[in-house]
Amino acid sequence: MATREEILKHPRLHLLPQTSQLRALMSIIRSKDTGRGDFIFYADRVIRLLVEEGLNHLPVVPKTIETPLGEKYDGVAFQGRICGVSIMRAGEAMEQGLRDVCTGVRIGKVLIQRDEATAQPSLYYSKLPSDIAERWVLLLDPMLATGGSASKCIQVLHEAGVQEDRIFFINLVCTPEGADMMLSRFPKLQIVTAAVDDGMDAKKFIVPGLGDFGDRYFGTD
Ligand code: PRP
Ligand code: URA
Repeated sequence: MATREEILKHPRLHLLPQTSQLRALMSIIRSKDTGRGDFIFYADRVIRLLVEEGLNHLPVVPKTIETPLGEKYDGVAFQGRICGVSIMRAGEAMEQGLRDVCTGVRIGKVLIQRDEATAQPSLYYSKLPSDIAERWVLLLDPMLATGGSASKCIQVLHEAGVQEDRIFFINLVCTPEGADMMLSRFPKLQIVTAAVDDGMDAKKFIVPGLGDFGDRYFGTD
């Protein structure tokens, strides 16, 4: 298995710049003392940074426009259309961050739940845009631990005709094991993340991690 250091250098893993602002936001959401209101507020801020970074990796084509001064500006435009796909439930927390920057964006949903005892994922439901195979897909899930859930979701996307090189996995915290598994199993997948943590505990929770993202964001436990 690749080490954390090797994962951090992987060309298809894009780690957000570890600025003091991001580290302060992550310190708030990782803290056991942070209540639900602040958890939502600061997680949303990091999600916004992740979505913006994800968009940085989408392909563009040259586009020349004219400014109000009658001058030409050699710019670019996004090539093609995008959609989001959230892995329910925690991934739904990332949908608004995507909507905030891409108005009217289509969002597919895949309900996958890990068994609390075995950490094995089960697929319960999926509903995707009918033209998803022609879109660039931002796959949304804040937590990547073993990689079982995300990999099951990518199988669903494959079955819907999505090519792997069109999938950008937007993630808040991952483990070296999970990232290594995803990057090896899906050789064209790209991952955008805010943190690569040390590993997992005996219950397959990310350490140091932030606990159960879905429970903290949606107020269940
Ligand atoms: C969490 C998380 C991921 C998954 C990560 O979801 O949102 O989907 O676990 O773990 P893995 O990489 O080992 O599969 P969970 O099934 O706990 O459900 P939730 O979204 O309702 O919190
Ligand atoms: N899901 C979470 O919400 N947290 C973890 O640490 C692992 C899976």
